[in-house]
Amino acid sequence: MRMVNGVEMDQVMNQKKSSSFPSASKSPVSGTRPVSGTRILGIETSCDETAAAVIEDGRLILSNCVASQVELHARFGGVFPEVASRQHIRTILPIIEEALQQAHMSLGEIGAVAVTRGPGLPGSLVVGMNTAKGIVLGSGLPLLGINHLEAHIYSAWLAVNPPQPLPPEPRFPLLVLIVSGGHTELILMKGHLDYERLGATLDDAAGEAFDKVARLIGLGYPGGPAIQEASASGDPRAFKFPRAWLEGSWDFSFSGLKTAVLREVRDLQRVYDTLPAADLAASFQAAVVEVLVGKAFKAASAFGAAEILVAGGVSANMALRGALHAQADFPVHIPPIALCTDNAAMVASAGYYRFTAGQQDGLDMDILPNWPLIEV
Ligand code: KG4
Ligand code: ZN
Repeated sequence: MRMVNGVEMDQVMNQKKSSSFPSASKSPVSGTRPVSGTRILGIETSCDETAAAVIEDGRLILSNCVASQVELHARFGGVFPEVASRQHIRTILPIIEEALQQAHMSLGEIGAVAVTRGPGLPGSLVVGMNTAKGIVLGSGLPLLGINHLEAHIYSAWLAVNPPQPLPPEPRFPLLVLIVSGGHTELILMKGHLDYERLGATLDDAAGEAFDKVARLIGLGYPGGPAIQEASASGDPRAFKFPRAWLEGSWDFSFSGLKTAVLREVRDLQRVYDTLPAADLAASFQAAVVEVLVGKAFKAASAFGAAEILVAGGVSANMALRGALHAQADFPVHIPPIALCTDNAAMVASAGYYRFTAGQQDGLDMDILPNWPLIEV
């Protein structure tokens, strides 16, 4: 387990044993930053990252702490739900404390608490939700339940160590492509919090395909970064894998591609002792990227989008980012790599836009493990 912000989790746990949780009535930890704007404390525990962040006015990152469980799950070759929820319980309070401290903030300077409500693993979601409720109960702060896919979209509004002024916001109507471990969706976003779902994967999510194919060709977990790394020394034209265009719909399908890789691997194993993993990875990655980019641009033209936004874990992929930026038809927004995979800054950002639109949830709010974005 590690923390993205450079602090070992064990270290944080040990340091924080004797410290008290910052209370709503406590005065500011540091008075160096002018107090202005609306600050949201974000909490994310939908899968295998325990995360907390403080965001000002939806865009400015004051802190963004992530405790990744990737090393815990690597030996299982995927996320083990029971292990994930237990680890969230161990990590959630230290990571929230860390986020408040890095933002030089007490709960008294926070405007609302935003927590991922779904979709995600039930046992994981419940840890974040109950922690958020506890904070809200003790502090009197407003509570907001956030859809995880909406949060991924709002990661494109965030700026890491922002220059002054902040970079331009994505412009509506936006064609949004969400590509994560659990979802692949094309969405037309007509304004803040306003979504029309155009299509989605009929089977595997793009990230799921990366993870499964990585396992097939003997690469490590998580599969996306492993495929990307192996692809660097591979030939994307070495194998002709199928592209499922599904003409006439905005849906995606990746299971045929995965099966084609499986067949190729079996054929190769009959002849060779070792697999040409780099060529297999590069050819698979090229097939996924071509379909994602092709469909996103076609949809952007068809629906008169002003810009394209791509978010979710797979948007960290360098081949995908390169292909998106290589075209000149539409301005493309892709979050910085550190904000592509699960984090709480994006939850707090979405929370800000919901809070300013008047949303507030009660303490009776429950998690929604299968919550579609269009039902928010
Ligand atoms: O958004 P995310 O962190 O979690 C979900 O909401 O699912 O996405 C995780 C997914 C995993 O399937 C992982 O393999 C994939 O994102 N991923 C990548 C890369 N980094 C993460 N896929 C391709 N290339 C990458 N560099
Ligand atoms: Zn995610």
